[in-house]
Amino acid sequence: MMAYLVALHALAAVIWIGGLFFMVCILRPAAAAMPLAERLPLLSNAMGRFFLCVWIAIIVLLVTGNTVVFMTGGMAAAPVYVHVMQGLGWVMFALFAHMFFAPWRRMRVALAAGTLADAGRAMNQLRVLAGVNLALGLIVVVVGSGGRYGLI
Ligand code: HEM
Repeated sequence: MMAYLVALHALAAVIWIGGLFFMVCILRPAAAAMPLAERLPLLSNAMGRFFLCVWIAIIVLLVTGNTVVFMTGGMAAAPVYVHVMQGLGWVMFALFAHMFFAPWRRMRVALAAGTLADAGRAMNQLRVLAGVNLALGLIVVVVGSGGRYGLI
């Protein structure tokens, strides 16, 4: 049971952080040369699909992570790296929720209204926040996978 939970947990992390890496480091730079009127709909479409996956990944991370913690004696008995993972995880979840409900919403409204400059500004905010979440996510993966072997 524990093996399946940790495997599911790792899969959800791979999908979220791998997707962020692709969006920030590959797709956005590749689309940078396109005119705004073509780039924004493409990025908006890609983000809409990705954000759905992120909501599912967050639910899976929370359920599997907390079940493993519960099965191993609760947070009081959890090693430091699990506390760090959970703490940074909550910062990442909050940042993602902010992205989804603020700049992402503004971007879609502006795009639908044809105000490309506003949509571009909101997309820029999304890029910065996605970069921060990617950096945090990479740290969490290092902490979560190396922690059991004494990394921290
Ligand atoms: C509510 C938040 C979270 C809790 C309670 C939690 C809990 C846990 C626990 C108990 C483990 C097993 C540790 C061990 O094997 O000793 C684990 C492993 C791991 N977690 Fe988390 N976690 C959380 C969030 C996250 C997030 C946000 C990520 C990355 C995006 C993440 C990535 C990982 C990785 C990569 C592993 C290692 C899996 C492996 O052993 O291959 N976790 N987590």
